[in-house]
Amino acid sequence: MNAAIIGVGHHVPDNVVTNKDLEKVMETSDEWIKERSGIKERRFGDAIEESSSRMGYKAALMALQNAKIDKHDIDLIIFSTLNPDYFFPGCGVLLQRDLELKEIPALDIRQQCSGFVYGLSVAKAYINSGMYKNILFVCSEQQSAMLDLTTRGRNISVLFGDGAGAVVISATIEDKGILSTHLYSEGAFAEELTLKYLQGKGTVEEKDDNLPFMNGPLVFKHAVLRFSQAINEGLIVNNLKPENLDLFIPHQANLRISEFIQKKLNLTDNQVYNNIEKYGNTTSASIPIALSEANKKGKVKPGDMVCFAAFGSGFTWGSAFVKW
Ligand code: COA
Repeated sequence: MNAAIIGVGHHVPDNVVTNKDLEKVMETSDEWIKERSGIKERRFGDAIEESSSRMGYKAALMALQNAKIDKHDIDLIIFSTLNPDYFFPGCGVLLQRDLELKEIPALDIRQQCSGFVYGLSVAKAYINSGMYKNILFVCSEQQSAMLDLTTRGRNISVLFGDGAGAVVISATIEDKGILSTHLYSEGAFAEELTLKYLQGKGTVEEKDDNLPFMNGPLVFKHAVLRFSQAINEGLIVNNLKPENLDLFIPHQANLRISEFIQKKLNLTDNQVYNNIEKYGNTTSASIPIALSEANKKGKVKPGDMVCFAAFGSGFTWGSAFVKW
């Protein structure tokens, strides 16, 4: 059985926060943010009303509708987030409850910005094995509530935003679907992009561990190398050349990283879809949000060769190749 993406959806909070809005609360500038990251605005949702599970629910409804599938035919939920509503249980069961689904399994994964490509690999393996037929895979990230919106946290907080994306992945005998996934991690860099979240257990000095930390230049340096590594492996395995890609959707971490990869692969603007200027970095949700938008715009057609690639905290990174 092949594992095909048959439906896509997304949801972002209504509240638009521009770079100019951030200038009011921290020492930063629209010029600095645009020049370094390409970001013009992002969405910040209410921590409760637009929690990861609530945004995920809205994206899931759109994906189910797009897939034209009865929600009761879903036999597995996969949920990816770095900021679950609760420390435990994970968001997968909250989504199952909110969708009023029967007692299907709900699996949470935690690979941060690489969550979408990791989740696709899980879905593919389950469907290839015959264990499940219709998987609802949701990536949702409520991140604004944990950002330090003062000058101290500016190197991180100007980059991130809230949002959710979802896909329905179904078994098919047709010649399409997820062709391959290529996953990596390197825990030696675990502390270079982290939120340790000691939950009050730290000493006064360690309280900063309750805030996200990022070694930006190091992350940038690794990202450009690792994106290329994961994409090149997939191209070789699938016997493809960059010009054979109809659509490349990189994780929306930083427009400068995406542009670097595009140049390295010699891809045209038409082959690449970016939307970071509108949403910032929405971690694992960034690729499915972009995919859902691209789909709405008619940029992905049956038979197209699509590549997704991501890099992020862990470090974790990977790529996925899909015949649409
Ligand atoms: N506004 C204005 N100035 C800022 C700022 C902000 N929001 N954030 C940092 N700065 C300042 C720094 O304090 C530093 O000032 P100094 O030179 O006086 O010390 C200066 O800008 C340069 O900081 P640096 O961190 O070296 O900048 P950079 O050119 O590396 O760009 C990032 C910073 C974060 C944009 C860049 O490193 C990056 O994109 N990294 C990867 C991030 C990423 O993709 N993360 C997610 C991975 S999934």
